[in-house]
Amino acid sequence: MSGPPAGTDPAWLPDEAFRAVGSRRVQVRGEGPLVDTVRAEAARARARFGGAADGPADLVLCLDGSGDEGPEGFTLERTAGRTTVTAAAPAGLLYGFFEVVRLGEDAFVEAPARTHRPAVAERMLNHWDNVDVHPVMGQVERGYAGGSLFWQDGQARGDLARVRAYGRLLAACGINALSVNNVNVHPAEARLLTDRITEVAAIADELRAYGIRTHLSVSFAAPVLLGGLDTADPLDEDVRQWWRAAADHVYAHIPDFGGFVVKADSEGQPGPFAYGRSHADGAGLLAGALAPHGGTVHWRAFVYDHTQDWRDRTTDRARAAYDHFAPLDGQFADNAVLQVKHGPMDFQVREPVSPVIGALPHTEVAVELQVTQEYTGQQRHVCALAPLWSQVLRFRPEGAEGPTVGTIADSLVAVSNVGDDPYWTGHPLAQFNLYAFGRLAWNPDADPDQLLTEWLELTFTPDRSAEPERLRAGLRAVLAGSWATYEKYTAPLGVGFMVQPGHHYGPSVDGYEYSPWGTYHFADRDGVGVDRSAATGTGYAAQYAKPWRETYESADTCPDDLLLFFHHVPYGHVLHSGTTVIQHIYDTHFEGVAEVAAAREVWASLAGLVRPDVHERVSERYAEQERCAREWRDQINSYFLRASGVPDAHGRRIH
Ligand code: GCU
Repeated sequence: MSGPPAGTDPAWLPDEAFRAVGSRRVQVRGEGPLVDTVRAEAARARARFGGAADGPADLVLCLDGSGDEGPEGFTLERTAGRTTVTAAAPAGLLYGFFEVVRLGEDAFVEAPARTHRPAVAERMLNHWDNVDVHPVMGQVERGYAGGSLFWQDGQARGDLARVRAYGRLLAACGINALSVNNVNVHPAEARLLTDRITEVAAIADELRAYGIRTHLSVSFAAPVLLGGLDTADPLDEDVRQWWRAAADHVYAHIPDFGGFVVKADSEGQPGPFAYGRSHADGAGLLAGALAPHGGTVHWRAFVYDHTQDWRDRTTDRARAAYDHFAPLDGQFADNAVLQVKHGPMDFQVREPVSPVIGALPHTEVAVELQVTQEYTGQQRHVCALAPLWSQVLRFRPEGAEGPTVGTIADSLVAVSNVGDDPYWTGHPLAQFNLYAFGRLAWNPDADPDQLLTEWLELTFTPDRSAEPERLRAGLRAVLAGSWATYEKYTAPLGVGFMVQPGHHYGPSVDGYEYSPWGTYHFADRDGVGVDRSAATGTGYAAQYAKPWRETYESADTCPDDLLLFFHHVPYGHVLHSGTTVIQHIYDTHFEGVAEVAAAREVWASLAGLVRPDVHERVSERYAEQERCAREWRDQINSYFLRASGVPDAHGRRIH
């Protein structure tokens, strides 16, 4: 039952990772489907590595309802030559098992009892998968790993073995929830909610075996689209009745269904504004239908004007989510979760943390990250995002004394980067992003560097290689600083975008400058950046609590890496780093390309130490990354040289 189908990369669960467990006598105590999954995993490992079937156990995994580990926690200890995992609920046993796998031989070294519990109860992936291939967006919107894992030829795949293998990988990094279709719900996909629910149920059956609850993106207009009503007004009694019946129908097929994900009044999706109702009314409608069944509605806060006039300097897209949602605090239903993108714009390489997080103390909040690399190299570039996410999760919206984002978040959600690609993620090294998201959702304080170690030990099992230390060092060298490198050769100092319109890959400095999307940098001959101060700009900086509203308000105190997000400054403005903005742009773009070239060489030197097919795939991607990084460097540097007229202090050639 377990293990990936032939032809699928094992990612962070290669057989080798099970050696320590599989070569020992393992006993699993308890009943229930998830306990059976653990039992099957242990049996599979034993079959591979020949652990004893009888005799005293080296590892006991024990379900004990009297414990206080909670619904997903476990206690791990090693005393008197025996390792014990105890859990009060079956999911805890599953996570405990994978912790033992992660520890390998270390799990069999004497250690006192320690209880592990997830810091965040819901750790969720959103798939932006279309059932039908969309004429512009393809099968997976912003997908860079082939087709959908779930959908093919307009319906759920008949063979869901890969879905089960996916669930297994996700459980091994702590993810426990997943939505199976795009937040942009096209008419065919809307029907998954009603007459096509059996297709969703088939997927849910596979994921359930690994403790993952299935969710569905729904259209707010479903009562009109599917139910033949003439309104989707959230306060209309027929509409409420329709949604209650729809939810009942879903739960009849999927008893542990997680709930709905909704993108409403956003980028053309229908929503409550059409009826003069608020987003709390809209969310309340769906929450009410789900409540009797224990489901949740994830209501996205990504609401802004996408038909903006670029000449209008008073409208600021960054302000929109706060302006729409902060006043609604306290009005959301208990089982409604406001799902907020981590930054105020849209998953750029550098953004401040959204001021919405922390601004609604009486509302359940999910923080949304993007594992799929829409603006961070589209899985053709190496860009390990764990350090970015860690910065977000450790940010304290109320300053040093206040809680972190990781503590405030009731749920962590990420847009998945997985498709039907044999390596799951297109770029084999992009697997690390998925793994790191799951682990950070389990523990937002986890050290990203430590997660990199964990992931590479599991995935590449360096101890089995000819040169373990060189392999470890090489993998670290190409991944650890890759986000910083990516930032260097792309949009500078937090200004964002500068990507080619539509597909968002590669540079185009003015690509979104005169567009309706609200994504401007305002570069001219004198300077660059967006004035978001309260004193002279859009006022966005004042959406933050102290001390951040003051920190960001002034160019003197604003951190360098966010300067152009918050301020329009002359090219000669001197950064805290001591260099001018224009010189910083030149320097970082030269450095970024040099770093990619160096990483590519490191990777080349690992030939023979990693699987040949993986080596080849990554090498191909590095060729493209280097080409693209040069293109970024040359476009950005040329653009700003022409705009500013300021030559490079080091006299390097700028095209
Ligand atoms: C971005 C992305 C869209 C997506 C949207 C969202 O704008 O480009 O493809 O639909 O985010 O998060 O809803």
